[in-house]
Amino acid sequence: MVELRNSSNNRGFYVRMRLSHKQARQQEKNTLFKYYKWVLWFFLTLYFFTSYLISHKPNPISKPHVVTSKSAMAFRALVDSTNSTFSKYPRRDNNDDPLKGLKIYVYDLPSKYNSDWLSNERCSNHLFASEVAIHKALLNSDVRSFDPYEADFFFVPVYVSCNFSTVNGFPAIGHARSLLASAVEIISSIHPFWNRSRGSDHVFVASHDYGACFHAMEDRAIADGIPEFMKNSIILQTFGVKYKHPCQDVENVVIPPYISPVSVQNTLEKAPANGRRDIWVFFRGKMEVNPKNVSGRYYSKKVRTVIWRKYSSDRRFYLQRHRYAGYQSEIVRSVFCLCPLGWAPWSPRLVESVVLGCVPVIIADGIRLPFPTAVRWSQISLTVAEKDVGKLSSILEHVGATNLTAIQRNLWDPATRRALLFNDTIQEGDATWQILHALAKRLDRSVGVSSQ
Ligand SMILES: *[C@@H]1O[C@H](CO)[C@@H](O)[C@H](O)[C@H]1NC(C)=O
Ligand SMILES: *[C@@H]1O[C@H](CO)[C@@H](O)[C@H](O)[C@H]1NC(C)=O
Ligand SMILES: *[C@@H]1O[C@H](CO)[C@@H](O)[C@H](O)[C@H]1NC(C)=O
Ligand SMILES: *[C@@H]1O[C@H](CO)[C@@H](O)[C@H](O)[C@H]1NC(C)=O
Ligand SMILES: *[C@@H]1O[C@H](CO)[C@@H](O)[C@H](O)[C@H]1NC(C)=O
Ligand SMILES: *[C@@H]1O[C@H](CO)[C@@H](O)[C@H](O)[C@H]1NC(C)=O
Repeated sequence: MVELRNSSNNRGFYVRMRLSHKQARQQEKNTLFKYYKWVLWFFLTLYFFTSYLISHKPNPISKPHVVTSKSAMAFRALVDSTNSTFSKYPRRDNNDDPLKGLKIYVYDLPSKYNSDWLSNERCSNHLFASEVAIHKALLNSDVRSFDPYEADFFFVPVYVSCNFSTVNGFPAIGHARSLLASAVEIISSIHPFWNRSRGSDHVFVASHDYGACFHAMEDRAIADGIPEFMKNSIILQTFGVKYKHPCQDVENVVIPPYISPVSVQNTLEKAPANGRRDIWVFFRGKMEVNPKNVSGRYYSKKVRTVIWRKYSSDRRFYLQRHRYAGYQSEIVRSVFCLCPLGWAPWSPRLVESVVLGCVPVIIADGIRLPFPTAVRWSQISLTVAEKDVGKLSSILEHVGATNLTAIQRNLWDPATRRALLFNDTIQEGDATWQILHALAKRLDRSVGVSSQ
């Protein structure tokens, strides 16, 4: 209302201004009028002449409409290649759509880069499987564009985590760099888009301990670094810390580790998130009783060892060191779920705790958590400094006596659960949607800044 009134006031002012200038301009107008008819005639002729040329091409063979749009594409490609700043991300005016009309082109790579690996069922279900889930979700989504010339981003679907070791069953990611490098070689030789932007509008998933450094041990990961060819691109990665780190020195979006939504649904069908919780503190996982100093580092920086030594005889702590397939049924029975660092700060426990309604107790200094605008982490979790892990029981007792109920109420908001799970077809607010939202925000930024 206020704005409306202001603008009509302004117009009144404008009209008054014009009236006072009217006489002064009268003379000027009379001279202009002499030429006015000729000017009008000239422009009308020009207009009709050009529209004739456009609708009647000199070429006698009338070509289908497609050709016109192709030549428009070729023109755009030309503009793009000569001035990438200008049109790397086209401007969007759709303010209602939170995804801003985002368009993503998904490369069609030979099956050895992706679908062949799916013959092993584990490939689409283990903790690094977001590389599969995001690809699947994009293939069926509205943001997928089949016209690469109108795409804002290019998704490179390479599954690097499904070569499971025959020794210990863990994903062997030693081949990740060469597999990705050869995929980039293919796309950059067939299509112009990689060279056009030097990969900067290309998106990869690197869902490993240290993201695109592709190694589980931090010192090795840092020594190897991010492959040179990926350094301009956007990496979707589970790894994130609040301080400078060579393995996140690249445009990145922190994403949640993959937890199968079906497994969560099955667990919740048997025991609802707001049901009875008879375990006070839960942790199941690798715990070195006497941690080895591997290449100058202790597993979990000894945090898990301290937890074990201090609390394994405390009956309120349910601590287990061995794998158990049904562990989700234990999480849904627990009040607090410990999420200490392992080799890397992040862990799938974080997602499992949240989606199964157990308050995550994050013990990983400086960790950067996924989707901070969608998930109010400070309202749904507890953070305990690594050095304070010995005081765990008194910290949790204090929370239990004060704000536990408030934290649980926030935690059981279904929107939070949705944001951390990858649905096969994108649902508004789910994990893939949050990624698209983060990418769409980058469109704003590059339109706004439009330099460099
Ligand atoms: C690219 O486009 C921008 C914005 O239109 C312009 O300022 C700049 O001079 C152009 N650069 C080149 C190399 O054409
Ligand atoms: C899978 O990993 C093994 C080593 O664990 C390696 O020898 C093999 O070449 C890898 N396979 C592919 C297809 O990269
Ligand atoms: C992109 O650049 C590479 C290396 O300079 C070159 O080999 C390749 O042919 C280029 N791709 C296209 C489509 O021009
Ligand atoms: C995806 O979302 C739909 C609708 O919310 C739901 O019916 C379906 O079970 C979900 N799929 C998975 C795999 O969770
Ligand atoms: C761990 O081992 C490295 C050598 O591998 C050594 O330099 C370092 O001092 C050891 N750390 C501790 C705490 O013992
Ligand atoms: C609950 O209390 C703890 C410790 O007193 C505090 O760190 C945390 O921020 C509180 N959380 C909420 C959601 O009030």
